[in-house]
Amino acid sequence: MRLADKVALITGAGSGMGKAAALLFAAEGAAVAVIDIDEAAALEVAREITNRGGKAFGMRADVSNPADAERMVEETVKRFGKLNVLYNNAGIEGEANLTARFSVEGFDRVIGINLRGVWLGMKYAIPHMIKAGGGSIINTSSTAGLSGVKGGCAYAAAKHGVIGLTKTAALEYGRRNIRVNAICPGPIATPLLERIAAYQKSREVTVESMGANTPMGRPGAPEEIAKVALFLASDEASYANGGIFAIDGGQTAS
Ligand SMILES: NC(=O)c1ccc[n+]([C@@H]2O[C@H](COP(=O)([O-])OP(=O)(O)OC[C@H]3O[C@@H](n4cnc5c(N)ncnc54)[C@H](O)[C@@H]3O)[C@@H](O)[C@H]2O)c1
Repeated sequence: MRLADKVALITGAGSGMGKAAALLFAAEGAAVAVIDIDEAAALEVAREITNRGGKAFGMRADVSNPADAERMVEETVKRFGKLNVLYNNAGIEGEANLTARFSVEGFDRVIGINLRGVWLGMKYAIPHMIKAGGGSIINTSSTAGLSGVKGGCAYAAAKHGVIGLTKTAALEYGRRNIRVNAICPGPIATPLLERIAAYQKSREVTVESMGANTPMGRPGAPEEIAKVALFLASDEASYANGGIFAIDGGQTAS
């Protein structure tokens, strides 16, 4: 069991990569706080874990809301006694529009969830990790955090920002034994990617065709990201700090 006796909080754990990570972390012995803005989805994933004999609870929280972010951390510590792992995974694709056409509300929404939400998670979790003698934080960026995205100015800005937050916290808390790393997934077959494909239906874009553009010729599976998150969460990654891990089938290699 690679996460025996650890307590992990995962945001956006009701779907996609967060759900895959919640199931995997629990199977590896972690007690998991399954957090999502979609309460029913969070409760369902937590139920799936407990039905399999694991430890979990589900809770609704909007990561962009400071009170919710604080509550999700406090509730985790109340239920499980400590916090060792924070996986800031929740995110939205947001509006698809050119920079000059992007709406102000749409920009603020993407930045609020995908960037401020990551900072808020760290803000409230870090004091508990210091108390626990250390911890591991995994932040979800994207290949859109490494290069621009046509039609996704807010998404690219937020995901680049996540890398800045990750590197800064890694510098600040390394001596407290808190490791902070980011994962930059390429196209991963989740409901989010299905929604992006659906917007572009007229051009016959599919999840498969988005994956076909990577050097590996296929989209990734959520479990392939969850396994990297598991490694970063575990003590096996004891010297990994401030790392930005592109897990993208080679998409950003050129
Ligand atoms: N799928 C991809 O190809 C891809 C690629 C790179 C990065 N990402 C990033 O990976 C992360 C997970 O994406 P996914 O593809 O699994 O998406 P998904 O839509 O399947 O799951 C995201 C989950 O986050 C939840 N969520 C949304 N807003 C929230 C909020 N304000 N507070 C709490 N929960 C919220 C949703 O309800 C959903 O359950 C996101 O940060 C996304 O930007 C995805």
